[in-house]
Amino acid sequence: MKIDILTLFPEMFKGFLSESIIARAIKEKKVEINIYDIREYSKDKHKKVDDYQFGGGEGMVLMPQPIFDAVDDLKKEDTKVILMTPQGIPYKQKLAYNLSNEKHLLIICGHYEGFDERIRSLADMEVSIGDFVLTGGELASMVVTDSIVRLLDGVIKDASHQNDSFNDNLLDYPVYTKPREYRGMKVPEVLLSGNHALIDEWRNKMKIERTKKRRPDLLKGDLYE
Ligand code: ADE
Repeated sequence: MKIDILTLFPEMFKGFLSESIIARAIKEKKVEINIYDIREYSKDKHKKVDDYQFGGGEGMVLMPQPIFDAVDDLKKEDTKVILMTPQGIPYKQKLAYNLSNEKHLLIICGHYEGFDERIRSLADMEVSIGDFVLTGGELASMVVTDSIVRLLDGVIKDASHQNDSFNDNLLDYPVYTKPREYRGMKVPEVLLSGNHALIDEWRNKMKIERTKKRRPDLLKGDLYE
């Protein structure tokens, strides 16, 4: 899979691409991730990418030209173009699964002050990572990329994401490691029993209990389509 990201702040991606599971996935060629500087596509002699908005108002607006040219350059037949914006559809695990089956994603990071409305026409999908406003789409694009890359074949053990929160619209069950008792808090007996049928039953029960208590909205099941 290939993921191309269009941004005004390429430096923000350095740590993200060079650490942990993402770095390993790149090294092992499970994914190719390219960061493109929107400014490089500007035809303006000062590499300007934004301007005042028509009609007046605070803030600079990202101009269409650099983004249209970048998409013309990078979009191929099997490319899905995603625009990161708080006005997009809410990002969910189900969408992470669907996107992990694509061949090529081109992610456009929106601008803190806004982008020319015509840029929307380039996107196959507009995605929001939550009902809050970030200074730009960069962190959002990293969130989306991270959640997709970990689902790609061979990036983490299959079993690790089979139990993820949100699969089956349920939160994950609690897990414990050594020691068996810490500051008076004990590991539940059942986990030490060696009885795997009982352990599975307990884990399922915990998933349901936890979801009922913390995220009853998930149990309606329609949020993750
Ligand atoms: N850009 C700014 N805020 C965002 C959000 N919540 N989701 C996606 N992109 C964004």
